[in-house]
Amino acid sequence: MNDCPILPTADKLKKGILLAGGSGTRLHPMTLAVSKQLLPVYDKPMIYYPLTTLMLSGIRDIMIISTPDDLPLFQRLLGDGSQYGVQFTYRVQPSPDGIPQAFLLAADWLDNSPCALVLGDNLIFADHLSTALQDAAQRDEGAVIFSYQVKDPERYGVISFDPMGKLCDIVEKPEKPPSNWAVTGLYFYDKRVLDFSRRLKPSWRNELEITDLNRFYLEDGKLDVVKLGRGCAWLDAGLPESLLEASSFVRTIQARQGLIVGSPGEVAYRMGYITGQQLHDYALKMGKTELGRILLNLVASDLKHGPMS
Ligand code: DAU
Repeated sequence: MNDCPILPTADKLKKGILLAGGSGTRLHPMTLAVSKQLLPVYDKPMIYYPLTTLMLSGIRDIMIISTPDDLPLFQRLLGDGSQYGVQFTYRVQPSPDGIPQAFLLAADWLDNSPCALVLGDNLIFADHLSTALQDAAQRDEGAVIFSYQVKDPERYGVISFDPMGKLCDIVEKPEKPPSNWAVTGLYFYDKRVLDFSRRLKPSWRNELEITDLNRFYLEDGKLDVVKLGRGCAWLDAGLPESLLEASSFVRTIQARQGLIVGSPGEVAYRMGYITGQQLHDYALKMGKTELGRILLNLVASDLKHGPMS
């Protein structure tokens, strides 16, 4: 069957970076020989979840950045992206010198485009998430960040709001958090992102800080925050307990609803990046897994009743 949607040329695709490096020290010894973002979150490698977040945003030109040792493993897992109707470009981060270094490493590929960034250990689940993501990805000017209420904000970038509820400051891992609203690892930036990243100076921990990049946009009056509410879940799988929580969460949803979360194959199909035939072939490669069975059922049911939302 040759009814694959035609992939537009690269310069017309929206760009996104998936940052999957770092040393994963908080997960040692699990990450001594394996990249954190390849560890399983229930039935899939962790990186599938942030990858589907980018794909749901309508982004199809994706750069994956990781360590020199781990990058070949991601290439083996994900290939060139054609099975998902997207394009992957791979780049090494020689040492973990900070999250916004991703934009410096990607400078030639960015080519003055707007760009999203997602951290490879961040999992976001929400109803109607794709609408909020696509809205953020459509903007021509400014930056959009996503925030989520947590009980341990001191572990994250934290937002403060003025009495009118307007975002007025962001601080990285404050000892005394000004609110419970943490900044998630998902960011949308306009084309100035590279210029702003070039102006960043290493922090006290000798890293370029994503919070400092966000503050450039804030000072310019061009930083918007989307609050993820009660019906959403944001999990970062950077600690043994959060890794287990993320796995349990995915298992509970999938077992209860019979739906899959975090499958790039399914998202590619629902977004119209691949055809039913391509999803069928992809599902067959999953063997006799629950994931393969659900995807095959999805294609069969769409053939019978027409695509469902
Ligand atoms: O998870 C959201 C939080 O992510 C934000 O609230 C914080 O503002 C932001 O600084 C970041 O905090 P973390 O403490 O989680 O950052 P960490 O250094 O653990 O890096 C997050 C992910 O990015 C992790 O999977 C490793 C990867 N990474 C990190 C750095 C610094 C890289 O691939 N390269 C890097 O240079």
